[in-house]
Amino acid sequence: MLLLWTLTALFALTTASTTQDSWKSDMFLQGTVKSSSPPIQYWRSGFSVNPDGDIIIFTPGAGLDHHSFDAQVLPLVLAGHRVVTYDPRCQGMSQVSNITARESCTITFDLMLQDMDSMMIDLHIPYKQAVLQAGLSMGGMVAQQFAKVYPNRTKALIAMDCGPNEVLLPWMQYYLATPLDTLIANDNNASFNAILNTSNNTIARQEIYRELSESGDAEIVKAMKACAEVVVDDPTYTRLNIPELLLYGQLDGLTNTSMIEWYNRDIANPHISLVSVPNAGHVSSLDNPEGVVTALIAFLNTIKH
Ligand SMILES: *[C@@H]1O[C@H](CO)[C@@H](O)[C@H](O)[C@H]1NC(C)=O
Ligand SMILES: *[C@@H]1O[C@H](CO)[C@@H](O)[C@H](O)[C@H]1NC(C)=O
Ligand SMILES: *[C@@H]1O[C@H](CO)[C@@H](O)[C@H](O)[C@H]1NC(C)=O
Ligand SMILES: *[C@@H]1O[C@H](CO)[C@@H](O)[C@H](O)[C@H]1NC(C)=O
Ligand SMILES: *[C@@H]1O[C@H](CO)[C@@H](O)[C@H](O)[C@H]1NC(C)=O
Ligand SMILES: *[C@@H]1O[C@H](CO)[C@@H](O)[C@H](O)[C@H]1NC(C)=O
Repeated sequence: MLLLWTLTALFALTTASTTQDSWKSDMFLQGTVKSSSPPIQYWRSGFSVNPDGDIIIFTPGAGLDHHSFDAQVLPLVLAGHRVVTYDPRCQGMSQVSNITARESCTITFDLMLQDMDSMMIDLHIPYKQAVLQAGLSMGGMVAQQFAKVYPNRTKALIAMDCGPNEVLLPWMQYYLATPLDTLIANDNNASFNAILNTSNNTIARQEIYRELSESGDAEIVKAMKACAEVVVDDPTYTRLNIPELLLYGQLDGLTNTSMIEWYNRDIANPHISLVSVPNAGHVSSLDNPEGVVTALIAFLNTIKH
């Protein structure tokens, strides 16, 4: 009996460490979508250890990059999923190296959806395979737009700290109404600081500062304007018939109220859930990484594989 137990324990230990080693070499493997301009940099995790796992694609917020989700990726891979993180066009590492030429980088939702499509081709994701679209702030709006345009390619929506694509958040009106050149010329890091200021967590703030600095204020402003421009004045525009997780940092004054209103409007969708993450502002995945992981895993457990 004891021997059997020991053998079983030894087997479990060996299996665990072997699997752990394979996780290590299957995390954040970088790829480049060369056909996009600028080339889109992405990172795939868990594609070898979880060949049949659901694919979750995370899009970060305006000016932010793939590192916004670093703390969530390993727990999701360990839970059996495949995860893709990437830098959206003109942000993070998806920029041309010539600093002057960056000025002419264009951000629109049409282009970001084209980039998503190209990235999925680069990842050899079959067109018929539905993926989980996740995103934070601007990324949550990209995820909604993908779900709207490609309903058959979207298994679920995970929208974090963002408004719905059919209601313009009051503070976005300024970005919609003002010409891009004027916005960029007059911004003086106001957009940069507005995002940074939603976090009180020292470590999260350092990371947000680093990510925003990689993109620069002009690119943040372009992304904000793209967000304002994609909003359609149609209260049914993103009524989806798939599982939806709406998640917000409880202290995120930029989006918390509108996410609650969105949930109340969509309550007829039997698959919708709303989670408030405590001790978190706008970039909830950095402010409270564990809280976001718990909410994601709980939601994913409700989705049939
Ligand atoms: C960088 O881009 C600017 C603007 O497009 C261009 O005028 C300049 O020649 C480029 N510099 C290099 C080193 O390619
Ligand atoms: C999605 O699939 C359904 C059923 O196969 C089909 O009727 C519909 O046209 C498809 N929609 C899109 C946008 O491809
Ligand atoms: C904006 O912030 C960046 C990075 O912190 C800094 O280098 C730059 O000087 C700031 N620009 C203005 C106009 O304050
Ligand atoms: C952000 O906080 C800094 C430091 O507290 C302050 O100087 C700046 O005006 C704030 N910016 C915004 C947009 O609230
Ligand atoms: C939304 O965030 C603001 C700013 O942190 C806070 O004052 C407010 O209580 C929050 N609202 C909800 C419903 O949590
Ligand atoms: C930041 O701290 C201020 C003052 O203590 C508080 O009012 C605010 O709710 C906090 N915001 C976040 C995101 O923690």
